[in-house]
Amino acid sequence: MTVVSISVQGVALIISAEGRVGFAEDLKGPPFIGGDVLDAAYLQISEILQAQQGFSLAGYKARSIKRRIAARIRAVGMTGTEPYIVLLAESPDEQQQLLTALSIHVSHFFRNPSTYRELKKKVLPVLLQRSRVNHSKLRIWSIGCAYGEEPYSLALLLQRFLLPSDQLAIIATDLSSAALQRAKAGQYDPSRLTEVPERLLREYFQPQGKEYRLAEEIRKMVQFFRHDILSEQPFYRADLILCRNVLIYFSREQQRRILQILAAALPAGGFLVLGRAETLVTSCRELFRCINPAERIYQRLETDEQLLPMAYVQQLQDF
Ligand SMILES: C[S@@+](CC[C@H](N)C(=O)[O-])C[C@H]1O[C@@H](n2cnc3c(N)ncnc32)[C@H](O)[C@@H]1O
Repeated sequence: MTVVSISVQGVALIISAEGRVGFAEDLKGPPFIGGDVLDAAYLQISEILQAQQGFSLAGYKARSIKRRIAARIRAVGMTGTEPYIVLLAESPDEQQQLLTALSIHVSHFFRNPSTYRELKKKVLPVLLQRSRVNHSKLRIWSIGCAYGEEPYSLALLLQRFLLPSDQLAIIATDLSSAALQRAKAGQYDPSRLTEVPERLLREYFQPQGKEYRLAEEIRKMVQFFRHDILSEQPFYRADLILCRNVLIYFSREQQRRILQILAAALPAGGFLVLGRAETLVTSCRELFRCINPAERIYQRLETDEQLLPMAYVQQLQDF
């Protein structure tokens, strides 16, 4: 099952596993239905993404990534992994398309409204009171923020307090620069706004063609940064961290590592919110108290520093 690839004037010409010859884009055949991405192909795809896009698949759940690669192969209408690998190696555009397909940015404003109700009733009042008493800035970090729906929802909840920037900071990070660009623009399809309370929708979203633009005063409340939570880059000290629907991408070992980083980033009494399909891996349960199991809201316990790798604590940064 070898695919031979040659380059004619910079264009990939390939001989497929079925013996057909053509340009990579033209080698369409029976769709890749139910096809498996085998380990060797997965490795080659990982190497291409690493070498050409600086993106590492290490740490991701191979099974779900393989499923998404297979879906992408079907979407481009190819017959199998081998011609697809040739296309991927030759086409930076396809590398970008695959990265987008791997890190789906599904989100919407006030996703799981009951979680936001709980934050509004139980979590934000505690944090606001604490920052008033301590004269400290309330810092919120939204990890894997997609197009900004999550941090902007928090900004919408907090706008009525009119806190100046030395009393409130919301940062939002994501691996994907393309997602962050869209987040900064703050323009949304109505399908992402169905849970926005009527008053907020009226006051803070202006129709723009078929979409809605979030008001500048809310956009200004959030700072966006590109940040890969899997890498050993600096981590942000925060009082409330939302890391929802991000851990599901990762292996248990990486989930454990990320939860330790988040525990290091939170002070005792700080809050962590995970997605509905996520939970604390067993070895991290001694770091947090679960305060609302249905909404996956946890509070950082006062624990022995020894429980956390020093490397994480040393890499903390303020924002
Ligand atoms: C399904 S969206 C979740 C959006 C939002 N948190 C929510 O729950 O609605 C997952 C986001 O995680 C981002 N992501 C994936 N891997 C990441 C990583 N290693 N570091 C930071 N963000 C990552 C993706 O780019 C995507 O925007």
